[in-house]
Parts: sequence; C-alpha cells; structure tokens
Amino acid sequence: MTWDPVRLPSQRGRVVAVTGANAGLGFWTSFALARAGASVILACRNSQRADAAMRAIRARVPDAELSVLQLDTADLASVRSAGEHLAGLDRLDALVNNAGIVHPPLRRTETVDGLELITATNFFGAFALTAAALPALERTPGSRVVSLGSLATLLVSLRLDDLQLTRRYSGWQAYAQSKILLSSFGFELDRRLRERGSGIRSLVAHPGYSISGRTPHVPGVNEPSRGKRFVDGLQAPFTQGKNRGAEPVVRAVTDPDAGGGAFYGPRYGAKGPAVRAQPAAVTVDAGAAQAIWSEAEVATRTPFL
Ligand SMILES: NC(=O)c1ccc[n+]([C@@H]2O[C@H](COP(=O)([O-])OP(=O)(O)OC[C@H]3O[C@@H](n4cnc5c(N)ncnc54)[C@H](OP(=O)(O)O)[C@@H]3O)[C@@H](O)[C@H]2O)c1
Repeated sequence: MTWDPVRLPSQRGRVVAVTGANAGLGFWTSFALARAGASVILACRNSQRADAAMRAIRARVPDAELSVLQLDTADLASVRSAGEHLAGLDRLDALVNNAGIVHPPLRRTETVDGLELITATNFFGAFALTAAALPALERTPGSRVVSLGSLATLLVSLRLDDLQLTRRYSGWQAYAQSKILLSSFGFELDRRLRERGSGIRSLVAHPGYSISGRTPHVPGVNEPSRGKRFVDGLQAPFTQGKNRGAEPVVRAVTDPDAGGGAFYGPRYGAKGPAVRAQPAAVTVDAGAAQAIWSEAEVATRTPFL
C-alpha cells in the first residue's frame, strides 16, 4: 500500500508516549503524531529541553495535546515511577521506545544501578518501562509498542555471554549491541504477547542514517552550527534528516495494516520512504531473544510475561 507520511490516519483520541521526545527522532515522531491529532506524552529526562520541544511543536500545531513525563531510562527508580504513571492511564495506544545514547563514552561507565550505561539507557530502561506500562496497553484495543532498531545491528556480533561488556568494552560495540538487544526484545515481545492471546502488537523500526545537520532548524531542539551543516551536507547521498528518519517509526505507530512483529525502515536502507524492511538475523533469533530477556529480567529486577 502507498503510505503518505504527511496524511496520516487521524490519531484523535489516541494517547502515545514517546521516550526521548525532546530531540532528534523522538521530537519528529512526537510532532508528526501530534499533528495527526494524538495526545502525546513527551517522556524526557530534562524538563527544560522537554518544554522547548513542547513549545516547538505548539508553534507548528497550536492545538497539539501534549504533556511531559519525567523519565531517565538510565535510572531504574525513574523508570519505575514513569511506568507507574503510564500504567495508571485510562488508555495508552502506543509506547515508543526511542530514548538512547548514540555517542557512547570511550570508557565503560556504570549507572546508579550498577549497569553498563549504554545497555541500561538504550535497552534495560525500555524493557522495564514496557513491563510497567503493560496494564494500560492491555486495556487499550489495538495498542502497540514500537522499539528503535538500527542498521548497526548488521555490523557487530552479539556477545551473548557478556551483554554488559565487562570483559572488553568499546563504545561502538556497546551502542550497536544495545540496538540488537532492543530489536530482539521488540520481536520477542510480540511472540510472547501472541502466545498469551494479547491484542498488543510489538513492532521495530529503524531510521536509516539520520543526522542533525540535514534536519530543519528548530529553536531549542535542533540548532546545528554552520560547520556541522556543511559536513553533514557532504554526506547527503547516504543520509537524511531526522524528520525523514522518524517516518518508519510513525508508520509503525499509525499504519492500520502494520502487524505485530513487523520491521519498518527507509526503502534504500540509510534513507528513503518508510517501507517493510528485513531485520538482521540475530535480532529475530528466538534462542538469543530468550537469553537476552532473562538477563534483562535479572538486571532490572523485573519479572515480565
Ligand atoms: N540517528 C540515526 O541515524 C539513528 C540510527 C539508528 C537508530 N537510531 C536510534 O534512534 C533513537 C534516537 O536517536 P537520535 O538520532 O534521535 O538521537 P538524539 O538526537 O541524540 O536524541 C536522543 C534522545 O534520547 C534522549 N535520551 C538519551 N539518554 C536518555 C536517558 N537516560 N533518559 C531519557 N532520555 C534519554 C535524549 O535526551 P537528552 O536531550 O536529554 O540527551 C534525546 O531526547 C536512538 O534509540 C538511536 O539508537 C538513530
């Protein structure tokens, strides 16, 4: 089916929570959903940045229904409190697990909970938040969980015996592996929900290669320097703006025909219109998914499904 990212099906009456909504893909996802009429919960760790994003969306969509939820995905106490809030909502049509660190530190770092920072921020937080929000998703017909994958999942091997990279750390391995973990979780979640006869769908979407220097200027949200715009412009043949990169995510949230377990991405891999895509084999490996799931339950102290 032809999919028009600008003329979305009306989202009026739907409630969607987007993590890391104050910048990048999370901002553009929130904007597109608010423009289509959804009530969007901007789940962010910094209230000033969240307010700036809210102002920027309202400048384009004056009647946007927006609220802010405090969430630091690298802090399990914060995840639990945000999850309790979501669980108590009358309805939750979609949870978008977008928040993530894309430029990891050179040295291995741990969170307040003693977990490796990138794995915790990009995966464990999403795992525990989804588990906590499940009651609200369960009572909302046709609800979805959409998790952010990446082309990086094709580029590293999963170290299943050392998910938190205690033995040998590199920032790149930590980032790419965290995207394998989150994608694997997204697909496994769908399998487990189906087994239980749940109506919730879980999907995975990736934005190709989306960079801020090719993204429209938005005060307080995206203000790249002239130098950054120049350098990013040189990469135009294989990159796109984050406004375009959000399209597969928005499609996964809003396309009525998008089934559970689907994977969306740009047509040409790094860029292009949102289409069904082929996930990396490791992300759909059921054996690996079960091991990852068990480790996430232990790390977050969250029994889930
Ligand atoms: N851009 C790409 O080409 C690309 C490719 C593949 C996958 N992705 C995925 O897409 C997602 C967004 O990437 P992006 O390019 O939009 O990155 P971005 O512009 O750096 O935005 C990341 C967002 O995540 C938030 N965040 C980071 N750590 C957080 C924490 N501990 N708690 C709550 N929020 C946190 C950031 O908040 P602050 O502003 O407070 O830091 C920000 O809102 C990530 O999951 C990334 O892995 C991106």
